[in-house]
Amino acid sequence: MSNQNRSTPAAGGKGSLAKQETPVFDPEQHLVFKETPDILTMQDIGMAPDVGVSPVAVTQPFPLFSQEAIRIMRSEIFKPEVTQNHSFSSNLAAAQLRGYARDHAPFTRAAWNHPSTVAIVSKLAGIDLIPWSEYEIAHINLCVKSEEQAASELTVSKQPMHASPDDDKPIVGWHTDSYPFVCVLMMSDCTNMVGGETALRTGSGEVLRVRGPTQGCAIILQGRYIMHQALRALGAKERITAVTSWRPRSAFVKDDTVLRTVRPVSDLNELYHDFTEYRLEILEQRLRAARQTMRACRAAGRLFDTAGHKAFLAESAAFLQHTDRELVAMDEVRRGCIETVDLPDVAVGGAAVC
Ligand SMILES: [Fe+2]
Repeated sequence: MSNQNRSTPAAGGKGSLAKQETPVFDPEQHLVFKETPDILTMQDIGMAPDVGVSPVAVTQPFPLFSQEAIRIMRSEIFKPEVTQNHSFSSNLAAAQLRGYARDHAPFTRAAWNHPSTVAIVSKLAGIDLIPWSEYEIAHINLCVKSEEQAASELTVSKQPMHASPDDDKPIVGWHTDSYPFVCVLMMSDCTNMVGGETALRTGSGEVLRVRGPTQGCAIILQGRYIMHQALRALGAKERITAVTSWRPRSAFVKDDTVLRTVRPVSDLNELYHDFTEYRLEILEQRLRAARQTMRACRAAGRLFDTAGHKAFLAESAAFLQHTDRELVAMDEVRRGCIETVDLPDVAVGGAAVC
């Protein structure tokens, strides 16, 4: 399969790939995952046992994609049609690229959907997962600075009294994610970077810092259930992360997905189609299973389980109401405005615990 991989643009280049040179994702060549990293469990961070869909809270950074894979992914996000048509910004994050993978990033799309990648993410997350939808493949958070700006940050950060009020602001403020799990992949060279950790709030309200990944490495976080913020990275000309969101593969695991943090920064036509289709699919599977169980009970001569069926109907009604609540009329969505959590930000420069 590797002989299908053609020439790729230079690392960090903005060159676009000619159609005939589209590289093919090859897990043997492009996946570099080796060992299971250290993992903090939900219990480790003081969460109640019924919170979340898995015992795993967050992983340490681990190598996931090769440098060549990162180079190809970068070439896909720098295509003019991606920056022109898929750029979003909000009060939480200044520059993002969203929903481009389906039409403009065949390599990135194949990389995240490949069964080998899905198996790695599922293994580390402690539950069988699949990408949340095509729309949420490799959402990009962008932070690009001039060389002088990056260098001066490092000098200024050593003199806190002279730092501007914005220097300690997180790159993304306190929030819980809309989706059960995220895998955050670092796309930039972090050699001179200071900071860039993820801060988590534990069950008791303490703040833990999780070390940020280096280029080609990733972390996995059960972000729907854990309050977190991405801390600013100083000293680097750019910090580009690709965030892919995940949900349980099984239709019989709870789906607490909301669209709160993504609705204002999305093509709602795409987002709503993806969301409603898989929610209906989950319901379809649950209804079919309930019907089969009921028929089997009857065939076995057992009494109708009134209480059990009413509980199932109540759960199904709540599931439908949840879907309905998340579908805010498109003309009522305030673009770029995401509700924030009023907690003190974490300063750059503390020690990471994980
Ligand atoms: Fe997040």
